[in-house]
Amino acid sequence: MALLLLGLGLGLGWGPSFTSAQILNPQAIVQRNYNMARVAGTWYSISMASDNLTWVQEHGDLRLFVRRIEHLGNGSLKFNFRFRVQGECVIVAVVFERTEKNGEFSIAYQGQNKLQVVETDYRLFIIFYLHNTQAERQTQVLALYGRNPEMSPAFLNRFEQACRRYGLSSRAIIHLTSQDRCFYNR
Ligand SMILES: *[C@@H]1O[C@H](CO)[C@@H](O)[C@H](O)[C@H]1NC(C)=O
Ligand SMILES: *[C@@H]1O[C@H](CO)[C@@H](O)[C@H](O)[C@H]1NC(C)=O
Repeated sequence: MALLLLGLGLGLGWGPSFTSAQILNPQAIVQRNYNMARVAGTWYSISMASDNLTWVQEHGDLRLFVRRIEHLGNGSLKFNFRFRVQGECVIVAVVFERTEKNGEFSIAYQGQNKLQVVETDYRLFIIFYLHNTQAERQTQVLALYGRNPEMSPAFLNRFEQACRRYGLSSRAIIHLTSQDRCFYNR
């Protein structure tokens, strides 16, 4: 009996399942004319992809766990990240400068970087695209951030589709959920 109840309990969503508030609504997704003020707030790193996995793997420069995004008064976008250096959780704030284009930002770091919003519903997820140019070398990085620390497969599928549009297969994707060793150090 107890087992049966437990089974029912899990079936009804007492386990690590997703609530209806976390269902992907394709109609809520925007792909242009972004309201960057609505992008501000708390985010979690869910997945990243790159055509050079060195950047996002363990010890990679861009293996960064997002905490918060601020939309600054001058239109720039400030990211608050955590990452691990020699076993310590380090806080980094990175400001991407606004450009002429809506949803597009830039920063000089290891060459030139262009950051673009690919799509978002503001409420649950956002996908960013970063294009780095360093001398002759071009590198692409995509990131899926969620308002919640875990996301249902529908969002991961959405991310895979976005990656494919930039020529990245699912083999170029790494999942960061539960990889955040600074999780309790928000
Ligand atoms: C990948 O990135 C690393 C680190 O920046 C670099 O050393 C390496 O040459 C890159 N590989 C390719 C194929 O561009
Ligand atoms: C916008 O403000 C931030 C924070 O004060 C600053 O770092 C950045 O350089 C400013 N950008 C421009 C274009 O003035």
